[in-house]
Amino acid sequence: MKIAILVGSIRKESLNMKLANTIKDRYINKFNTEILDIRNLPYYDQDIETTPPESVKDFKQKVKEADGIIIITPEYNWSIPGVLKNALDWLSRVDQVVNGKPTMTAGVSLGLMGTIRAQLHLREILAAPGVQAKLLKPAGNEVLINLAASKFDEITGELVDKGTLKFLDEVIEQFIALVSQK
Ligand SMILES: Cc1cc2nc3c(=O)[nH]c(=O)nc-3n(C[C@H](O)[C@H](O)[C@H](O)COP(=O)(O)O)c2cc1C
Repeated sequence: MKIAILVGSIRKESLNMKLANTIKDRYINKFNTEILDIRNLPYYDQDIETTPPESVKDFKQKVKEADGIIIITPEYNWSIPGVLKNALDWLSRVDQVVNGKPTMTAGVSLGLMGTIRAQLHLREILAAPGVQAKLLKPAGNEVLINLAASKFDEITGELVDKGTLKFLDEVIEQFIALVSQK
């Protein structure tokens, strides 16, 4: 099983990227994970959507080949970061590679709200006609990691909070079931 992860933060010490790396390592025996680069995508431009640069072609191809995608995002000003929206806009056009793709969302915040507002916006975007992801049902599966400063190991960067990891294990099982559905 091939899973592609998109991370909505491109800063070096990103907590959301740390969650992506935790997922990659922790479920290594369940699926192959590739964390996709969205930093080097140009701004979406309709004039070049049918003749995009290699970075866009590669990115879309990797999403196309993935059996499922996990989108991990911080909350910026009550929504998702522009860099992630830009990536989703590229994916939504021409061959619309997210259509029907099993998808789950997650997010990490330092504050109390755990990216809920960002993920609500994200779900709307994922339902748009050009996107139409096959979204993991949110009931019982909302990965909202709040107050994150104390939940990641300072040296390894891995998520270490036991309760959060237990919950993550359960959600990932649900996601694997969704991806495995024919
Ligand atoms: C531009 C900007 C806007 C932010 N807006 C919000 C917000 O609306 N809600 C929130 O809970 N945190 C907000 N934050 C704090 C982020 O949740 C926090 O910086 C988080 O660590 C970013 O994720 P990262 O560690 O993966 O980069 C904002 C941070 C930045 C830089």
